[in-house]
Amino acid sequence: ELPRVYVTRRVPPAGMKILKQSGMCHIEQWDSDDPVPRQELFKRVSGIDGLFCVLTEKIDAELLDAAGPKLKVVSTMSVGYDHLSLDELRKRGIRVGYTPDVLTNAVAELTISLLLATSRRIVEAADEAKNGGWGTWRTMWLCGYELSHSTVGILGLGRIGVAIAERLKPFGVRKFIYTDAGPRPELANKVEAEYVSLDILAKESDFLIVCCALTAETQEICNSSMFSKMKNTAIFINTSRGGVVNQDDLYKALSSGQIAGAGLDVTVPEPLPTSHPLFKLKNCTILPHIASATYSTRNAMSALAANNVLAALKDEAMPKELKL
Ligand code: GLV
Ligand code: GLV
Repeated sequence: ELPRVYVTRRVPPAGMKILKQSGMCHIEQWDSDDPVPRQELFKRVSGIDGLFCVLTEKIDAELLDAAGPKLKVVSTMSVGYDHLSLDELRKRGIRVGYTPDVLTNAVAELTISLLLATSRRIVEAADEAKNGGWGTWRTMWLCGYELSHSTVGILGLGRIGVAIAERLKPFGVRKFIYTDAGPRPELANKVEAEYVSLDILAKESDFLIVCCALTAETQEICNSSMFSKMKNTAIFINTSRGGVVNQDDLYKALSSGQIAGAGLDVTVPEPLPTSHPLFKLKNCTILPHIASATYSTRNAMSALAANNVLAALKDEAMPKELKL
């Protein structure tokens, strides 16, 4: 009898093709663009060998108990893994696959798009043009901030942080600084980034970009204490996870003019209700978690997630295994 793999969502074709053509598993799927209801998921995972999931599924003790002892691998089609209870997976000896590297370029491109959209007020300006606000050319109208001669601070210098810095360098950035759990000289040397404390990062950054993983250590690390140290002209960008930011504190910093603007691709919750106060602020640009959303990257993520499942089912080395 073939091992059973449950796929929790309609996913890009590359991954499904790999699973099907392998001929080595029986595939069941929640074939919808919307998430599988949790009760339904509980029923469907019972007795499976492999789980192919996306970041909206909380993989916790309850879910793993519902799946039962045959479950060998959880493969998430994401680089983030804050939706997975790693302790529970480790305890049960379940291997975990994720999708780093293949999305780095797409996420870096989107981060820079969002940064420029925020610093040059692109969304606000386009709205003015369309809605009758464009009375005439005005000398100080819709002015923003420029990257030339700026200091860019990176909170969490991993693969993505480096890719962002590499792309920003040609804009004439004067200096890159970063903070992380500790210095990461090998990555930092690639972009000549200097390791600083969170305090200095807040104080010196003209652009502060968050691209760290959400963990117990980074939960709401961007809070009133951090925002209060930032420049009034600073732009804050987050393409990691909403949980890294205290959103009430961010709202206060933006509405009081403590900082100049924010661009967020991630929020708590997702989707952010349209009635949320952050949507009322002209200096806040919010995107619906699209950083990795290019055709080629989403297909590559799907393919990698499929290959991670298959390798684990064969007890082989997985292309990208998360060390637990
Ligand atoms: C997207 O947020 C991901 O974790 O891949
Ligand atoms: C702007 O369009 C300029 O000519 O300076």
